[in-house]
Amino acid sequence: MQYYSSLVSQSCFHVISPLVMALPIFVFSLVVLVTLCKLVRHVLCPKDKRLPPGSMGWPYLGETLKLYTENPNSFFSNRLKRYGDIVKTHILGCPCVMISSPEAAKLVLVSKANLFKPTYPPSKEKMIGPEALFFHQGDYHSNLKKLVQASFLPSVLRGAVSQIENIVLDFLPSWENNNINTLHEMKKYAFGVAMISVFGDKAESEKEGIKQLYQCLEKGYNSMPLNFPGTPFSKAMKARKLLNETLTRLIAKRRKENNLEGGLLGVLLKSNDRNNRYKLSDAQISDNVIGVIFAAHDTTASVLTWVLKYLHDNQDLLDSVTKEQEGIRKRLKSEANRGLTWEDTRNMPLTTRVIQETLRTASILSFTFREAVQDVEFEGYLIPKGWKVLPLFRSIHHCAEFFPQPDKFDPSRFEVPPRPNTFMPFGNGVHSCPGSELAKLEMLVFLHHLTTTYRWEVDGDEDGIQYVPFPVPKHGFPISVYPRK
Ligand code: HEM
Repeated sequence: MQYYSSLVSQSCFHVISPLVMALPIFVFSLVVLVTLCKLVRHVLCPKDKRLPPGSMGWPYLGETLKLYTENPNSFFSNRLKRYGDIVKTHILGCPCVMISSPEAAKLVLVSKANLFKPTYPPSKEKMIGPEALFFHQGDYHSNLKKLVQASFLPSVLRGAVSQIENIVLDFLPSWENNNINTLHEMKKYAFGVAMISVFGDKAESEKEGIKQLYQCLEKGYNSMPLNFPGTPFSKAMKARKLLNETLTRLIAKRRKENNLEGGLLGVLLKSNDRNNRYKLSDAQISDNVIGVIFAAHDTTASVLTWVLKYLHDNQDLLDSVTKEQEGIRKRLKSEANRGLTWEDTRNMPLTTRVIQETLRTASILSFTFREAVQDVEFEGYLIPKGWKVLPLFRSIHHCAEFFPQPDKFDPSRFEVPPRPNTFMPFGNGVHSCPGSELAKLEMLVFLHHLTTTYRWEVDGDEDGIQYVPFPVPKHGFPISVYPRK
């Protein structure tokens, strides 16, 4: 037997060895051939006159190198200045159309949303979980969306105000007379709030494991998708698998104990309708739990980091916000030192406008991606099937026609509601953010305690923006915090 197998392996070796030597030449020729074909197609193919104006850049590479070497914001704005509101380009291996008029964005995201499906790189889908609602359209998406929205309605959130406040009161004193990294701290806070929203506040042994595995997953999320042992991507994929196992255990335990209350998980566990049509599988529940944690925490943390920067840079505004929050604090003290309520948070107009102006100025989600599911005639242009469409939120938020002096941080502009479809920090249409009220609530609760108790100075003098992947102040805005006099 041993002889037989060694013979097989030897003979195989003899056959394979010339093949192995020829393989690199074969692969090289194939690459050259494919590139040449693409080049010929790119140069010779008649260009469809109905395509939007713009440059497709180099064959194959498109304008990707320019996107990476220029600042992403100037990449988009330069092209819009040159070609108009609807511009074609070729980035990250895909032909794309960038759109920056409110009407066109509404068409893609709302009125003709069925012609444009959401699209993400396969590696991101694998990491978050392919059953998460972001990746779907149609019935599955709309049923799930209803469930997720139901977990974040104001009527549900009002019960979470004191839990959120407790998280703030737990960590904020540790900032006193310390140097902290704002982004890191805000991430911890937003993660804590996301965990409560998803699982409820009951102690469960699985939660610590979920927290650690999620952190491991997060480290690999923005890495190159190279699944070799030891790469951050491969570690993240392992963590994702373990996360699934832990969540499956938690789901089984909750089902066994008939413990179907608590957070989004509770809502998803109870999701079966009378005919059992919408019964979600464990994998669907897990993917959506991870998806919501993912959507909820980096976004909110990045916006909060900007709020601290803008308040620091506008001390008069900080004084006015503090005055508004002092008024609320006095009322809480006079009413048996009670904690914040939902109604208190509805009574913070200036702080709310500061958050709105931060969402506009920072526009942390500069754009989103959709893909045309068929050829689409669009404002006189053709968007071919399979092309990506990028509604550019940031460009709309920074258009002087809708927001005069767009680079000025001026919350008073929100004293008048913005024109319809010009302010979309939480997106628009079927895929708009179901967590917008939660995000605003956790920012208001945090700002109440921060502004009435502390002041902060920036450590170092480096200004600028960093993309992690959302734009945030350089190095995560390191600050020294001291008690307010
Ligand atoms: C300030 C913080 C946040 C910002 C700026 C933000 C922004 C957005 C935007 C722009 C979209 C739409 C993306 C698209 O159309 O492709 C979105 C979707 C989503 N957001 Fe948020 N978000 C924030 C916080 C949250 C929170 C706290 C949650 C937790 C519930 C959340 C959960 C989601 C989910 C699940 C979706 C996908 C909805 C769907 O596909 O139907 N987000 N978010």
